[in-house]
Amino acid sequence: MTNAATFYVTHGGAVRGAVTMPGDKSVSHRSVLFGGIAEGITEVDNFLESEDCLATLGAMRAMGVRIARPSAGRVVVEGVGLHGLRAPTHALDMGNAGTAMRLSMGLLAGQAFDATLVGDPSLTRRPMERAATPLRQMGAVIATSAGRPPVTIRGGQALQGIEYTLEVASAQVKSAILIAGLYATGTTIVHEPAVTRDHTERMLRAFGVPVASAGGRIALSGGQPLKSTQLTVPGDISSSAFFIVAGLLAADGPFLIRNVGINPTRTGILDILALMGADIRILNRRLAGDEPVADLEVHRSALRGIDVPEHLVPLAIDEFPILFVAAALAKGTTRVTGAEELRVKESDRIAVMAEGLLQLGADATATPDGMIIHGGTLHGGQVTSHGDHRIAMAFAIAALRSSGDIAIGDVANVATSFPGFADLARGAGLSVQETR
Ligand code: S3P
Repeated sequence: MTNAATFYVTHGGAVRGAVTMPGDKSVSHRSVLFGGIAEGITEVDNFLESEDCLATLGAMRAMGVRIARPSAGRVVVEGVGLHGLRAPTHALDMGNAGTAMRLSMGLLAGQAFDATLVGDPSLTRRPMERAATPLRQMGAVIATSAGRPPVTIRGGQALQGIEYTLEVASAQVKSAILIAGLYATGTTIVHEPAVTRDHTERMLRAFGVPVASAGGRIALSGGQPLKSTQLTVPGDISSSAFFIVAGLLAADGPFLIRNVGINPTRTGILDILALMGADIRILNRRLAGDEPVADLEVHRSALRGIDVPEHLVPLAIDEFPILFVAAALAKGTTRVTGAEELRVKESDRIAVMAEGLLQLGADATATPDGMIIHGGTLHGGQVTSHGDHRIAMAFAIAALRSSGDIAIGDVANVATSFPGFADLARGAGLSVQETR
């Protein structure tokens, strides 16, 4: 959605001290979805109260799940059991959230009632057949609008387990199939062409459902109840990526990022930055429930361009906007290939990042599946995020090393994943003003 909210970021400066990361978006979505269909009360700590996750929470409430939010980051879900959801009285609005929509398609495929899923203009442009196709093979009746939302799911279908190889490496599609598999007879098996985030598998196990996972094959048996549990959401490594790159570009001494989820299916950003010469130290490794977390100590580093290994792309898929900024300020050439999925995110992140980087004087060429960036310097200027939260935040960080101030338009959607970003960035030393 186009809107007037703008970030004005004064150029230069440094970051210092410590920041603590808010809860992970992917894990927060799953916590209320699985808590809602579990038997008993699930308590969640450090839930990310962003617009995207609140869309999933709102959808579960609309289907009759009582969910209390007694204090910041704490959510108490009164699970209704696998078959206890009720028909919503209106279309379920998933806002900007692809995860909310695709996971809900899997959930709704197994219900006794009909439901319709809608979203904002960005989500309404995004492909949904990738989830609808395997769900139909399981017996679901799903209509999309020329492949896109609105999506209508007709209830009352008997689902059967399938064995399915994903066409794109997508954790959302994998999760939709596994969630539908809970409602299916027999075994549901997903093969993934490359490793994708495994939060669904880990969390289902926390809810007492055995999930077998080895060598890119994930399997579960249908009809098993979820047993309520206690969850602590790890900090979001995708949100921390902005602060990691800020520290690499402009830390004034060691810069500490606390409570970062380091699930190995999410740490592609750390591996890619390490190849670029980043000095990031992983301290205080521990567990938040079933997810590993750590604190990251970031040191200012001279980054160099690299050819990003393609196997790391799905493990860093949400971090490319800020990686492109890092590459534009690195020495030498960075080539990203095999990243065509970026074209169907909240915006076309290849086109939108190339447009903004060019406006700031970078030498960046968009390719069908990535970008070629000859690193150098950035000047100030005006860019637009095209309503994409991660693009807005990436260009805010770029101002730490640009030679002039940067104005970023259309930034209201930062609240979809990181509502406190501007405050946290100011606390760390960035000079960000937000006008509405
Ligand atoms: C997500 C999976 C990824 C990611 C998205 C969150 C998830 O999407 O980009 O932000 O929570 O499963 P894909 O499944 O399309 O790769």
